[in-house]
Amino acid sequence: MCGIAGYIGSREAVPIVMDQLKRLEYRGYDSAGVAALDGDVTIVKSEGKLRSLQDLLSVDSPSGSVAIAHTRWATHGGPTTRNAHPHADQLGRIVVAHNGIIENYADLRRSLMDDGCTFASETDTEVLPHLIRRHYQGCIVTALREALRRVRGSYALTVVCADEPDLILAARHDSPLVIGLAEGESFLASDIPALLPYTRSVLILEDGDLALIRRGSVSLIRTADGSPIHRDPVQVDWDATSAEKGGFEHFMLKDIFEQPETLRTALRGRWTDAGLNLTETGLAAAAAAAIRRIYLVGCGTAYHAGLVVASTWERRLRVPVTVEVASEFRYREPAIDDTTLVVLISQSGETADTLAALRLASAAGARTQAVVNVVGSTLSREADGVLYTQAGPEICVASTKAYTAQVASLSLLGLWLAELRGQIGDAELHRIGDALQVLPSQVAELLQQAPAIEAAAAELERFHDFFFVGRGLDYAVAQEGALKLKEISYRHSEALAAGEMKHGTLALVTPEVVAIAVATQEALREKLQSNIREVTARGAQIFGVVPPDCGELAELCRWRIEVPRTEPELAPVLAIVPLQLLAYYVARIAGCEIDQPRNLAKSVTVE
Ligand code: M6R
Repeated sequence: MCGIAGYIGSREAVPIVMDQLKRLEYRGYDSAGVAALDGDVTIVKSEGKLRSLQDLLSVDSPSGSVAIAHTRWATHGGPTTRNAHPHADQLGRIVVAHNGIIENYADLRRSLMDDGCTFASETDTEVLPHLIRRHYQGCIVTALREALRRVRGSYALTVVCADEPDLILAARHDSPLVIGLAEGESFLASDIPALLPYTRSVLILEDGDLALIRRGSVSLIRTADGSPIHRDPVQVDWDATSAEKGGFEHFMLKDIFEQPETLRTALRGRWTDAGLNLTETGLAAAAAAAIRRIYLVGCGTAYHAGLVVASTWERRLRVPVTVEVASEFRYREPAIDDTTLVVLISQSGETADTLAALRLASAAGARTQAVVNVVGSTLSREADGVLYTQAGPEICVASTKAYTAQVASLSLLGLWLAELRGQIGDAELHRIGDALQVLPSQVAELLQQAPAIEAAAAELERFHDFFFVGRGLDYAVAQEGALKLKEISYRHSEALAAGEMKHGTLALVTPEVVAIAVATQEALREKLQSNIREVTARGAQIFGVVPPDCGELAELCRWRIEVPRTEPELAPVLAIVPLQLLAYYVARIAGCEIDQPRNLAKSVTVE
């Protein structure tokens, strides 16, 4: 959701920041712009995709060795060129690009207009350059600090000033920003993949930081009082190519096919021949024994990962385990005290609602545990304990490998809690542990069925209504499968607990709809089979995700993908894979823009 890029060095800056923006495209955006410093500041902006901006730049590109750039995902004001960032003060010499929301922008705007300011856009961001100008008396750092004292909201922002040309400023509050350091040059970005082609030495900004970025050096101060901060850069060991498509047509397909490896990485060192070891979570026996209630909280796919494990956790741990959407949890005054464990699940670790849920839980005295992919993210830094899902950079907006890594990590965490609390015997622990270890090869086996799924997708693409049905854990998988299909193929897809069909939705079932039946839970198979019969009786066709040798159920399916057998609680990790592929192929055959679906963003850093 919005991307910031910046460069200061000795090379031409604009091609570098444009390349960085390209690497941030996965965050989602609807307009883009660049500002280059060369005596004056020149701004070039365009609505639409980066190629529109690139077309303008190929006719007339500003030169200079300092530039900032931005991809905008519209919040205040439409996705137009006028509203694209960067924005400038009236003299055109102080220029700002910003991610986040300035909550008190209306008051600030009014007061600036009273001072005679005229605004060129409808954005909240534009108050920033005018406010900085109001406080500018020859020092851009002081002016920015003064401006930020008057701002309420969230921001990652970058500022350049034509009168102080050897400096880029960056400040963060509730929105991510990272700085890359190299010999004689520095880079700024919203996310690490945009830095990787240039450097592995990365300084991660924290809330309240203000960075003074010069060629090859950075100093940090606290925005509030100007006091210096010392922080060492971290060395990022991701391979630069792992953030790129690696030969696949889309990032989504690459992510799907990476799942055997990401699952292995999620398990590595945690389940070994010596048993389970999750000491990295910081959760020890006394803290585990004190838990009386657990909430699993996340948004979208991360919420679905919580749904998959909740009933298993509750059955083993014998405490209530509730799964909640973060945007609901944060506003409903849930019962939380110091015997509550709140597990926050997130790929990015920057989702605004999930962070708000974390802060609410902490304030109420709960122990908070992040299950998160992005190292150094806000969630990972603010939670009491962290379990990294270790899925690597996920570029496609639709989450796939991050989800299976979340489910595997949460399964481990549930086992760890049960072991610490003495609620699981050795035999059961080893049975599940052994099943976990073969999951990666079972996923690899499933991926070989991609051609069959592609063939089914070619027939299914003409349909526009899909009902995903399942019971128990299969219902949790159905919800994630429906989300995948709708977000990238724009087909109407809806998940239902199979037993609910006859309570209303059956009225919509005709030969023009498809039912996707998820049927991995042996104990519920017969019940599901009856529900599927009710659907086929109304003429709908069935795509089944089923175990081998499933008898009568197999006969009901027009298309059928067989999922290898595993422990019932781990079956969701396998069952989702054909549904990810189905969504991908339907979207591809329909010609949809897969990696960046319309209206969506990778990282939802606003409410
Ligand atoms: O980064 P997070 O895991 O916190 O993101 C949560 C959701 O926005 C995310 O899972 C979203 O639902 C995915 N795009 C779905 O594929």
